[in-house]
Amino acid sequence: MKGKKLSLKDRLIVSLDTNNKSDVVSMCRKISGKVSTLKLGLELIYGVGLDVIDTVKSFGYKVMLDAKLMDIPNTIEGAVEAIGGLGVSAVTLHTLGGKQMLISTREVMEKQAKLEAKLKPLLFGVTILTSLNDADLKALGFKGDFFQSVLNLSKIAVESGMDGIVCSPNEVDAIRKKFGTCFYIATPGIRLPEDAAWDQKRINTPEEAMSSGADFIIVGRSITTRKDVGGTIDLYLEKIERALGHA
Ligand code: C5P
Repeated sequence: MKGKKLSLKDRLIVSLDTNNKSDVVSMCRKISGKVSTLKLGLELIYGVGLDVIDTVKSFGYKVMLDAKLMDIPNTIEGAVEAIGGLGVSAVTLHTLGGKQMLISTREVMEKQAKLEAKLKPLLFGVTILTSLNDADLKALGFKGDFFQSVLNLSKIAVESGMDGIVCSPNEVDAIRKKFGTCFYIATPGIRLPEDAAWDQKRINTPEEAMSSGADFIIVGRSITTRKDVGGTIDLYLEKIERALGHA
């Protein structure tokens, strides 16, 4: 797929989970171009507004818009038509929205990109949130365990032509074995051994995620709550490089 020519800087996506613009600006400065992409999500969309995308881009970063879209296909089609004009490089959708929603999203974005002769944002299908475990899924009425559910949803994502899948680091190996390498995998739920889990339940280290076959790791609090954000990013990049066997 797409050659998958990723630089080290591409592989670490830092998640800016704040609803405050001055935190965003300060974090953009602290990260100082050490990574290519920052992830902006619901807190910023509702707390600051979509202008925050331009703020982040003005520092030279690409933006992964963690919109976590899920609705009926018609509604999502309209939403992604608008998102296509925002100049983001990646967008997330919930695979739980179903195959038709994923396919029509892809089709709308492909058509728009072709018409405007620009690159389509990468579409990432979120499987089961890393904050959920088997007990949570059971309470929601799921029959199988989270592992089976992640595999089922990954199948739907791949069959719908998603560019990538979001799952926990612990499921990457099984997804790669079952569905191959023709799509990206991005994993949140990344922690250093000394970190707290916070609200995440399916976590693992950057080394484990990368050596299992993840293309990107998405890291929030393990980096953004550190005093030395730049130094922590350097540490993460070293760990990624070592896990990929390039160090
Ligand atoms: O701080 P932490 O590293 O836990 O942040 C993880 C980020 O990844 C959060 O922005 C969260 O919304 C996002 N995410 C996740 N689990 C998913 C998809 C996205 O934690 N399945």
